[in-house]
Amino acid sequence: MEKIFAGKNALVIGGSGGIGRAVALGLAERGARIVLHGGSSQERLDSALKLVRAAGAECTGFLYPADSAGPDIAAAEILSRVREFLDGAFPSILVCAWGPFKQGNIEDMGPEDWRYLIENNLTFPGIVVSSCLGDMMNKRWGRILLFGGTNTDTIRGFKTTAVYSAAKTALGALAKSVARSAGPLGVTCNVICPGLTDTEYTSEALRAYNSERSPGGEVLKPEDIAKIALGALENSTVNGGIIPVDRGLAF
Ligand SMILES: NC(=O)c1ccc[n+]([C@@H]2O[C@H](COP(=O)([O-])OP(=O)(O)OC[C@H]3O[C@@H](n4cnc5c(N)ncnc54)[C@H](OP(=O)(O)O)[C@@H]3O)[C@@H](O)[C@H]2O)c1
Repeated sequence: MEKIFAGKNALVIGGSGGIGRAVALGLAERGARIVLHGGSSQERLDSALKLVRAAGAECTGFLYPADSAGPDIAAAEILSRVREFLDGAFPSILVCAWGPFKQGNIEDMGPEDWRYLIENNLTFPGIVVSSCLGDMMNKRWGRILLFGGTNTDTIRGFKTTAVYSAAKTALGALAKSVARSAGPLGVTCNVICPGLTDTEYTSEALRAYNSERSPGGEVLKPEDIAKIALGALENSTVNGGIIPVDRGLAF
């Protein structure tokens, strides 16, 4: 495979498992030097590091549960750890994969639910993007990839995921704003909106739901999502994109 990201530093937040790990592996195969971030499982982080190193990439990683201290502190702490690994440099490829999910009727969502879902799915990635963007603009090169939710590629109504989906839909405005401000300086920012995707985090109940709801009963794999995500990272013509990868699923 062509090492088109040789010489580039990539940070994958939530890269120790699920969709983030599949994207990290693809970046490694394309020659990037990787910093993997994970939430709390040392075992999953170690296994992801092994996988990414086996692809020939220089790779390091660390754990930091980003919902523990508020999005501003989490973003600052994670970037400070990453810059230690990168001898003071900022990442020039930023993937923010982690995005916690909670279902519930909108009338049952309390202030804590609102805070948790908006802070971790919008404010946190937003602060990380703002913190890395100036450096990318100065260097005239940067790639940012964010993850929306299923069907959040446009404004829709959701019966049981209103708060999560509101935060994820807003990421589209963030990506388009970055593309508008920083696109002329060589920076791209896109949002991938996965369909129902089974990962190691999927419970049996959710696995059954995913299979029942997916077009043709075919549930997506992290690699299916990563393939399109990597295409968006590779091609600077894709900028401000909000890209559904869901086999046409519509709730
Ligand atoms: N899976 C789907 O069907 C689906 C559908 C639509 C959209 N999405 C979106 O796609 C993105 C990736 O989803 P995913 O299914 O791969 O799972 P995910 O749970 O969003 O991501 C897993 C990664 O996040 C880390 N993590 C877990 N808790 C954390 C915390 N408190 N702070 C920081 N990191 C934490 C995990 O580390 P540990 O292994 O240590 O826990 C792992 O590296 C998310 O933004 C999600 O909302 C997923």
